[in-house]
Amino acid sequence: MKKPKIYITRNIPDHIIEPFKNTFDITMWKEANIPVPKEVLYEEAKKVDGLLCLLTEKINQEFLQHASHLKIIANMAVGYDNIDVKAAKQKGIVVTNTPDVLTETTADLTFALLMATARRLIEATNYIYEDKWGDWSPFMLAGSDIHNKTIGIVGMGRIGQAVARRAKGFNMKILYHNRTKNEHAEQELQAAYVSFEKLLEQSDFVVSLIPLTEQTNNLFDKKAFEKMKETAIFVNASRGGVVDEEALYNALKNKIIHAAGLDVFKHEPISSNHPLATLQNVVLLPHIGSASVATRERMLTLCLENIQAVFKGDYPKTPVE
Ligand code: GLV
Repeated sequence: MKKPKIYITRNIPDHIIEPFKNTFDITMWKEANIPVPKEVLYEEAKKVDGLLCLLTEKINQEFLQHASHLKIIANMAVGYDNIDVKAAKQKGIVVTNTPDVLTETTADLTFALLMATARRLIEATNYIYEDKWGDWSPFMLAGSDIHNKTIGIVGMGRIGQAVARRAKGFNMKILYHNRTKNEHAEQELQAAYVSFEKLLEQSDFVVSLIPLTEQTNNLFDKKAFEKMKETAIFVNASRGGVVDEEALYNALKNKIIHAAGLDVFKHEPISSNHPLATLQNVVLLPHIGSASVATRERMLTLCLENIQAVFKGDYPKTPVE
């Protein structure tokens, strides 16, 4: 029997694809760090039965027109706002994502970003590199406490709960807002469900972990920042699209809120001339939430397992419903 053809939109290490070489006929984009150009992707889409793609690929109607016999799109991310899932399903294409395997790693990074922002770690490191460290003084680089404070988690899914578990270890009061109540989080973590407005008003740390959808687009807007405490720290480790970045810039610049830690942006990548990068009270990261070697390997393997399951006629492990 002919092996199904699959295309991987980056060059990934051989030891990850090795176990699948007998099952698939694998082609990869030649670059590890540069996205595949649209024309190449569209050409490949015509030839293949399965696609392993990244959040850098826009899988929209235009792409799908080229996908004449594609059966599965395995997205190497838990978020899938880069994919028009409805249009793919209409063509009978299965879409999968990578939940669970990245939960703890992403929660680690989210909490690290929260701490780095509160305690001004990047500014403090730069102090040394820029030879600014003179004499020790009482308020030199003094930041905000984390322990005993209130964290408000917007989006209490798997990662939200994992962040809440870390917050519990810091004796934080946990508020959350979600589409549906999460009884498990309420019992295990004593997290209290509150309205979005209450969460904004009462939290010392407002942490966004919600997926980007039509409903959450620009959820954190001027009004939302104005509701937050003047001392509030905003952390976003979900998607840049949930934030009105101009409103966030103004809120930070005009001290409506205290600081922000951001791992994601509306249009990635950003560079040092991005307005948010010109501010002192921000910590910016290049979308590295799930970036540990072990987790990135697990994500890739899960994508390949999902593809394999579909070609075997089995239910994929982690379909996007
Ligand atoms: C990364 O942002 C992901 O959605 O996995």
